[in-house]
Amino acid sequence: MLVLGIESSCDETGVALVQSHDEMLPALLSHALHSQIDMHQAFGGVVPELASRDHIRRVLPLAREVLASGGRSLQDVDVVAFTRGPGLAGALLVGAGVACALGAALGRPVLGVHHLEGHLLSPFLSADPPEFPFVALLVSGGHTQLMRVDGVGRYELLGETIDDAAGEAFDKSAKLMGLAYPGGPLLARLAQAGDPKAYALPRPLMHSGNLDFSFAGLKTAVLVQSQRMVAAAGVGRFQDLPLPQQADLAASTQAAIVEVLLKKSVAALKQTGLMRLVVAGGVGANQQLRLQLNAECERRGVRVHYPELHLCTDNGAMIAMAAAMRLQSGLQEATRDYAFDVKPRWPLHAL
Ligand code: KG4
Ligand code: ZN
Repeated sequence: MLVLGIESSCDETGVALVQSHDEMLPALLSHALHSQIDMHQAFGGVVPELASRDHIRRVLPLAREVLASGGRSLQDVDVVAFTRGPGLAGALLVGAGVACALGAALGRPVLGVHHLEGHLLSPFLSADPPEFPFVALLVSGGHTQLMRVDGVGRYELLGETIDDAAGEAFDKSAKLMGLAYPGGPLLARLAQAGDPKAYALPRPLMHSGNLDFSFAGLKTAVLVQSQRMVAAAGVGRFQDLPLPQQADLAASTQAAIVEVLLKKSVAALKQTGLMRLVVAGGVGANQQLRLQLNAECERRGVRVHYPELHLCTDNGAMIAMAAAMRLQSGLQEATRDYAFDVKPRWPLHAL
């Protein structure tokens, strides 16, 4: 079965082809991505209307590209999958509309996919795919969750953020430091030259005894610390400070976020008794997080799995993969009802 997947929930247009055979794990044939980051950077964040318009421009050329590079034609597609939510309503509608129009024109069924299920299952596209059951640490720009995953569609929420997501903590702290949107990867790069112990920043809820997260207080602490540094140095802005000082605050911020994610992941492994951890979502690309999780998991004899680096952030491959795995598991059937809707708010555990 050949699945064409379309992702358009936020600021990346992604299209991919995934092929599945009977009992075997579905495999990625081709994928293509257009990131709108450059376009939104001038505004310091995603402008929803611009995002929707750009998805409209990109989605069909990207579909042609993946069909060509996968050596397939539109007629070979058996199911058209799209991100149904959560995400920006207008952006989601573009992918859903195109997918359903293609499905109707080709006479093929369609399937709406949960964006976070896409992230969650994206490590199955890697060279070292996990096996069920596992604990999942889902860390994206909009979500921070720990889940027990027993199979496709069998997700139990163990804990989640009560305010900002880990990606938001990276991005908002980066913004305070004068870094461009989305600041997560830029903050991580700045942190490379810094001392992670230079500033004592809070680790919110680290010892709360449950698996919930909170990152809003960290952002405030970073703000206060940066203002102190600017005042002490007598400069106008954070980015006018000597680079080592900037790097120290970036490294300390990253260390606080990584430590909380690490400690809570270990607590979730202990609570469930599981010996396998899967990390997914954009923040899963963070090298410090990977280094520290790898070291801790090795100490504990826990296997840890990640998506390929280029599939950590939003992409079409994870949407096609999640659709293929849902169909293969018999959990869901694709539909010929092309009267689509989207779900901008859609908790994963409601699946
Ligand atoms: O999963 P994703 O592409 O989008 C959502 O579904 O939200 O995640 C994007 C988030 C952004 O907050 C971005 O700053 C963060 O992932 N991110 C990183 C890194 N790469 C992406 N954060 C820290 N370090 C990175 N290397
Ligand atoms: Zn995402």
